[in-house]
Amino acid sequence: LQKRALDERLQAETIDVTLPGIPMMRGGKHPLTQISEEIQEIFIGMGYSVAEGPEVELDYYNFEALNVPKDHPARDMQDSFYIDEDVLLRTHTSPVQVRTMERMAPQLPVKIIVPGKVYRRDDDATHSPMFHQIEGLVVDENISFGDLKGVLTIFAQKIFGEDRKVRFRPSYFPFTEPSAEVDVSCGCGGKGCRICKGTGWLEILGAGSVNPKVLAMSKYDPAKYTGFAFGMGIERIAILKYGITDIRLFYENDIRFLRQF
Ligand code: DAH
Repeated sequence: LQKRALDERLQAETIDVTLPGIPMMRGGKHPLTQISEEIQEIFIGMGYSVAEGPEVELDYYNFEALNVPKDHPARDMQDSFYIDEDVLLRTHTSPVQVRTMERMAPQLPVKIIVPGKVYRRDDDATHSPMFHQIEGLVVDENISFGDLKGVLTIFAQKIFGEDRKVRFRPSYFPFTEPSAEVDVSCGCGGKGCRICKGTGWLEILGAGSVNPKVLAMSKYDPAKYTGFAFGMGIERIAILKYGITDIRLFYENDIRFLRQF
């Protein structure tokens, strides 16, 4: 009886192994992860290492040690989420410049990039209260603004295309002196389009020579060493590269958006 029951089961439960299987949806990396990794690869290829720092940060590192004292008007550029008087959600990745220099001093060269999340009290089609940045910092003997220009030109052409031009406009950041805002020529070839709002140029990052005050506060003698720094928004790079119209698309997890990357 047992054998018959087994035979009957074997008969009844035969499976057709030639039937096509149930297709599985394959996941992929989020577009922001892809762009972040692409940016990191470019700088790693130029000898940079990756550093990280805390998202819950001391006011000292986020502002004070970057030459932004308590009463400085430049604090208004970065509306912040404070936890108490001395602690906030970092508004940029720049505090990791100071943390890294403090940790490494007096070793040379300092040559890092810093990817990470940052937070500001902003919320509209192009600003999110949480977004991502990549910071860069180089400190050594004889580092000049020319080195900065060379590195950022290579970066912009690798991300946007070899045919792109780069433009440096004078700007102001308390932690760099002189400071610049860097534009890359638009893919429309300067004719003017929706993405460049008719200007032919796309603003991609802020940069400059490290302010001697910042070097001094971070244990590097500004009489002996110089450096450059830059900072960019990852969302912004992705928006410009792909012509995305609303930053919130990155965080909504809508598969129709994500599968396009
Ligand atoms: N931290 C600046 C911001 O979030 C960006 C920036 C500008 C970073 C110039 C830098 C720099 O390192 O040199 O607006």
